[in-house]
Amino acid sequence: MVGKVVAVRIARAGDETALARLDAVAWTTASGFPSVMERAGDPFYTFFTDDSPPGAHLVAELDGRLAGYLRLKPVTPLAENAHVLGVMGLAVAPEARRRGVGTALLAAAEEQARARGARKLSLRVLSTNESALRLYERLGFEREGVLRDEFCINGRYLDDVIMAKHLGAGGGPG
Ligand SMILES: CC(C)(COP(=O)(O)OP(=O)(O)OC[C@H]1O[C@@H](n2cnc3c(N)ncnc32)[C@H](O)[C@@H]1OP(=O)(O)O)[C@@H](O)C(=O)NCCC(=O)NCCS
Repeated sequence: MVGKVVAVRIARAGDETALARLDAVAWTTASGFPSVMERAGDPFYTFFTDDSPPGAHLVAELDGRLAGYLRLKPVTPLAENAHVLGVMGLAVAPEARRRGVGTALLAAAEEQARARGARKLSLRVLSTNESALRLYERLGFEREGVLRDEFCINGRYLDDVIMAKHLGAGGGPG
């Protein structure tokens, strides 16, 4: 079949292997952290953790194959901060990029955030990550701040950009 079909669903424990494989090839030093990328080679590494179980992830399938994930979590454990959900990880398999997978995952995250009563969806992105910055801006995320020289990657100090999309009135996550 010609064309693209992106389907987004909540992750399942059985996605572990495919997600670990995807994550191992998805990041570069422009988008992620070398210390985290190295973990993929650790024999005890697991993609899902107690803090980030399958239910905290949306996965996208493109033409039936797992093509990306998005991790959606409260930004802090504080009740006062509970109306904000954070995109704590987003990656699309290199061969599946520019086909709307990232867009579909972010749209599904926004829908889930609204359904959970969140007022705001926030994220952080390295200033060197031009493709992600463009994607977020295109979907209505605004720059809320910059953490200057926040990370040192390969000897270079880089800014981290804080972005958010305000979702309107919500009742607070349930
Ligand atoms: C950033 C990322 C998630 C984008 O996923 P994607 O599935 O390719 O995104 P989409 O196909 O939905 O792209 C939508 C729009 O975003 C922008 N965009 C995405 N990738 C881009 C790129 N490489 N260059 C320029 N613009 C880009 C474009 O405006 C694009 O629309 P277009 O293809 O019609 O021009 C993907 O490149 C990725 O996984 N990168 C590595 C991990 C990462 O950086 N994660 C984000 C961390 S904050």
